[in-house]
Amino acid sequence: MAQTEALDLIRAQNVSLEARFADRISVNSFLSRRLVSFQANKDRPVYRWFKYKEGFSSTLVHYLLDRLNLHSGRLLDPFAGVGTTLLTASARGIDSVGVELLPVGCAAIEVYRLMHSAESQRALPVLARWCAEQPWRATTHSKPFSHLRITQGAFPEATQLALEKYLGALEAEPPLAQKLLHFAALCVLEEISYTRKDGQYLRWDERSGRRQSRKPLNKGILPSFEVAITKKLAQMIDDLQLPDRLLAGFEAPPLSGTIQVFCGSALDWLPTFESASFDAIITSPPYANRYDYTRTYALELALLGVDDTSLRNLRQQMIACTVENREKAGLEYRFTPEVYHKALAAFRKQVELQTILEYLEAQRRAHALNNQGIPRMLKNYFLELALVIFDSARLLRPSARFVMINDNVRYSGIVIPVDLILSDFAEQAGFHIEAIWALPAGKGNSSQQMSLYGRQELRKSVCIWRRNS
Ligand SMILES: C[S@@+](CC[C@H](N)C(=O)[O-])C[C@H]1O[C@@H](n2cnc3c(N)ncnc32)[C@H](O)[C@@H]1O
Repeated sequence: MAQTEALDLIRAQNVSLEARFADRISVNSFLSRRLVSFQANKDRPVYRWFKYKEGFSSTLVHYLLDRLNLHSGRLLDPFAGVGTTLLTASARGIDSVGVELLPVGCAAIEVYRLMHSAESQRALPVLARWCAEQPWRATTHSKPFSHLRITQGAFPEATQLALEKYLGALEAEPPLAQKLLHFAALCVLEEISYTRKDGQYLRWDERSGRRQSRKPLNKGILPSFEVAITKKLAQMIDDLQLPDRLLAGFEAPPLSGTIQVFCGSALDWLPTFESASFDAIITSPPYANRYDYTRTYALELALLGVDDTSLRNLRQQMIACTVENREKAGLEYRFTPEVYHKALAAFRKQVELQTILEYLEAQRRAHALNNQGIPRMLKNYFLELALVIFDSARLLRPSARFVMINDNVRYSGIVIPVDLILSDFAEQAGFHIEAIWALPAGKGNSSQQMSLYGRQELRKSVCIWRRNS
């Protein structure tokens, strides 16, 4: 098929897919971009410690729980990030279970949970002493920061020496204080480094000596380790000392719902959970946008002891959202045969998706894509999410809701309606598509794409699927 014909076919199919769900798609003006991102958490005690750009806000989770009318029971987030869903649910008396692949998210959840325990107050004097006296400066015991290949040279020399002394000195403190002090260091790594998290990858300051992108980066004067860490410790002390603010701004302790966290891949953990054992799922998987969390969070992962081999493994275990992701081996053995075959069949017969994949594959063969890995990434992304959706249908009780937050994407001028394709999978998995709430202002195009394809907004949406009874 000629390229223009293929594009016309894709556009026509997208229009009919939109038409199929049109009565469920609506703009929900409550859902601002600020809410459906980490931004609204930025000023909230404790959540503000670690900037997890890929997170959503706890206000969004409160809103969703209200809309779902969920006040008890058991909730699952298979892509838990820093635990926003889990903590918010738990503060409302709902038990929650989370799965998160990256040790960074797991570490944050662990620390945030500690903040709700009476124990956390015991760490306060230690934090206050460290903030006021900076005891690491006088230590002779340093702990090396084990760099990954992709983080070498991230810190000015004096900063790295100070960080290593800090990491050495904290080992003399009681376990709980150690955990908080260590997490404080994790929270300042980007700030004190020559790197900046920039969506798809880690950008490097020109002073690092690393290869520069077209637009060189200069972060200006970097704070010294001492300045950054004392500011972070002061912030933590502040949040720990003000129980009233903690009550109002974080999640009202005590967390009355239990929280269980499974570190690893949802593709491994979900199949091990009991059928019909959850009352809701609220989640936001990685988007199909090529953002590589293992690169953007490489400094934090290095601090947590991840080495080059484990980093590569983590990258391959992520839901396929980067061009480096290959097919995952043995998916058919991870899920029950029923789940696997139904999900595979739904993936194969999703006409709009298959047309898009064929087109992109033809573009790849013609060397017309800016990256050859794009078709493979998309194919695996949708297959893996089909498996997650079908297994979730097994895990949810009848009439339970699945809330999926995602972004549509564009490749080679084609808009990929991720929300509608996943909704189609959900329908086949036994869900009724109740609503697809679009955010008021869609994401614009990059200037490059706009000049090529004109402005067509990409929808960011919240899908509400109800399990058939
Ligand atoms: C959009 S973020 C979710 C953020 C979360 N809602 C929050 O508020 O922090 C997607 C998460 O999925 C995780 N992830 C990616 N692949 C995964 C997998 N195979 N299993 C479990 N988690 C995975 C990523 O590490 C990331 O934290």
